[in-house]
Amino acid sequence: MHRDQAWAAVDDYFTAELVQEDQALRDTAAGDVRSTAPGIAVSAPQGKLLALLAEMIGARRVLEFGTLAGYSTLWLARAVGPTGQVLSLELQEQNAAVARQSLAAAGVGDRVEIRVGPAVETSAALVAERPDPFDLVFIDADKPNNPTYLEATMALTRPGSVIVLDNVTRQGRVADPDSSAPDAVGVRTALRMVAEDPRLDATALQTVGVKGWDGFALIYRRS
Ligand code: SAH
Ligand code: DHB
Ligand code: MG
Repeated sequence: MHRDQAWAAVDDYFTAELVQEDQALRDTAAGDVRSTAPGIAVSAPQGKLLALLAEMIGARRVLEFGTLAGYSTLWLARAVGPTGQVLSLELQEQNAAVARQSLAAAGVGDRVEIRVGPAVETSAALVAERPDPFDLVFIDADKPNNPTYLEATMALTRPGSVIVLDNVTRQGRVADPDSSAPDAVGVRTALRMVAEDPRLDATALQTVGVKGWDGFALIYRRS
């Protein structure tokens, strides 16, 4: 078995044994064929990790950058419970429409709001609204804008908030000083901001699985 196939098979095993996606999650995942970027949603085990993190910290308010077809959104919406709220920022109206339909079908439409537009703009508008702080933020949109999204996140969170930054390995480009690829630079700059911000503490983990080689940073806002 090729390495990538083995990674996928183990993810499938973990999913069957522990994650136990129901029909609504499977339908939402499948809906991504109608999105602008099929195949890049979090995996089932990763979605459940987001949900467990949210539940562990008792998150009531979650902010997401990058909705796609609403798969990670559904995990988070379930985790915040019927009185919680998820706000997800998405560039493409097509994706927002697919996600809204799946989230409504899953019975969580009332606790999710999707705002369409470039997240640099929608997050700035959100900061200007001075909303109650978000307990958990999942940054998973266009990688070159990660620094801007992290900056907005600092204006939208509180001590104790948790931030997850997705897709930090970039096929190794993140650690290649010769790579000036915009996605790698976006990740690197955001991680440097985290390292230099005394309010934040973090680690990053590489992952393998159905999505191949990937990784995420887990960031804790301490003050
Ligand atoms: N969080 C989703 C996957 C998101 S994929 C999940 O795991 O299920 C990345 C998403 O970011 C795509 O839907 C893409 O349209 C969106 N995106 C790309 N550029 C963006 C921008 N400038 N502003 C907001 N969203 C953007
Ligand atoms: C990409 C984006 C994602 O959010 C992801 O989970 C995987 C890949 C990408 O743009 O390549
Ligand atoms: Mg991602």
